[in-house]
Amino acid sequence: MKNSTVLKSLFVFLTILVFATCKEEKKKRVIEFPETDLTAENLIPKPLKMIPTNGGFALDQFTAIYTSEAAGFEEVGSFLAKKIKSKTELDVQVNIDEIPNLETVIYINQSDSLELNAPEAYQLYITQDSVILNSNTAEGAFRGIQTIRQLIPEASSDSLATYPIWTIPTGKIIDSPQFEYRGSMLDVARHFFSVEDVKKYIDLLAYYKYNVLHLHLTDDQGWRIEIKSWPLLTEIGGSTEVGGEGGGFYTQEEYKDIVAYAAERHVLIVPEVDMPGHTNAASVAYPIFNGNGKKPELYEGTQVGKSTFATRKDTLYSFLDDVIGEIAAITPGPYFHIGGDESHVTKKKDYIYFVERVEKLVQKHGKRMIGWDEIGQADIDSSSVSQFWASKKNAMDAIAKGMKIIMSPAKKAYLDMEYDTLSKHGLHWAAYIPTDTAYIWTPETYEGIPMESILGIEAPLWSETISDIGELEYLAFPRAIGYSELSWSTPENRNWEEYKIRLANQAPFLDRMNVKYYASPLIDWKKSKYSYKEIEKD
Ligand code: ACM
Repeated sequence: MKNSTVLKSLFVFLTILVFATCKEEKKKRVIEFPETDLTAENLIPKPLKMIPTNGGFALDQFTAIYTSEAAGFEEVGSFLAKKIKSKTELDVQVNIDEIPNLETVIYINQSDSLELNAPEAYQLYITQDSVILNSNTAEGAFRGIQTIRQLIPEASSDSLATYPIWTIPTGKIIDSPQFEYRGSMLDVARHFFSVEDVKKYIDLLAYYKYNVLHLHLTDDQGWRIEIKSWPLLTEIGGSTEVGGEGGGFYTQEEYKDIVAYAAERHVLIVPEVDMPGHTNAASVAYPIFNGNGKKPELYEGTQVGKSTFATRKDTLYSFLDDVIGEIAAITPGPYFHIGGDESHVTKKKDYIYFVERVEKLVQKHGKRMIGWDEIGQADIDSSSVSQFWASKKNAMDAIAKGMKIIMSPAKKAYLDMEYDTLSKHGLHWAAYIPTDTAYIWTPETYEGIPMESILGIEAPLWSETISDIGELEYLAFPRAIGYSELSWSTPENRNWEEYKIRLANQAPFLDRMNVKYYASPLIDWKKSKYSYKEIEKD
């Protein structure tokens, strides 16, 4: 053990000893916990390992949170305190100096232990007196507190003492994600979604340990991000959306606000400017860049594949240098997504020329390029990433170049596909994807893509058929919960029959968050006191 580790362990031990001594008086009050087994019944994604010890930790008015001083840990503790408050009304103090009347402590500890080597790995030791959450990084600690949140029962037991107690079962959890990239995409171009809507989606994703939100910021129907050097992109290009309802866009300040909100939840924003196809809105704003030979006009329909940039014009690349540069400057994450899909009216050689030139611009601005799988046709760098949505051949071409793959096969992972023929929203050009189909597939071996080439999984939500947060939630939930498990948990830990019980147990949380999820009839949803629900008839 390194000296610093010994010191830290000693500090944890002494802290607990001090609490234990201070509590001697209090501990005479014996809480008779009912048999409580640490199980995964409320946990999604399922942790790697769990070892129950059949006791209970009392979360109550005498609980406090202490954190390491390492960067970001106190924020994780404060985040947990806020979430405990909204679930239980308890005011749990974080890093208070005085330790008055403490019964139980949640300690969030930075640890260099080798077992926690993966950046998001964490361990939880839950005993009668303390919850110790160890992680190497604040990010890992943040994933760990989602597990704590899920372990806190929805209802308190009021018979154990004269005040309410939320009993967390004791035991040990050892956990680490399978894939480093666990994302969802939201299309804010076909229909615009407000900053508040996006924040709510981020909150829900973070609860299920997602770490990426990819924003599809531009398309034929709208340009949604302010570019200061090219103001007409939003002034004109952002003025409408599918169906003609007004559109909208994020100012750079608003985008930064989204990025910061996501960062507090250890979620990366991946911005996408889709090109050289899907560029009608940009071409209406600046017709000089239009390459399809027609006069561009604002478009409120849903067809694809008619637009293209004029890929051989040099001025296009100084324009894109500005666009990519401005967005890259306000995006702390390592990725920039260039779209690259469905450029049906771009000649193949022009498409390839375009992707190769744009890759250089993305790299110039310090980012790693992601593109839909078509980009695999170009001669690009192994550091670029292919998002497999339709063509296995394109994905395999990318792998041959040493590129990594994000798994988003439309037949399995598209959140905008209808559940079935009765779905209220969605499309079905790729498939119907009921809740079980979304879960029962194996990204690790899908279409023979080698596991070592898979960066992670992303579930895209295209917005042709949805225009408000309730409709968004109908398509995303419950399927996005299943994708969180596919990207976090190992195949040995996944089983539909067992998962669907854990999914049923998410209803109280979803109801409390006012999520208008699709109450799939495949699931025996748990009743909750918050239930507003209009149960879907199948
Ligand atoms: C796509 O669905 N056009 C990537």
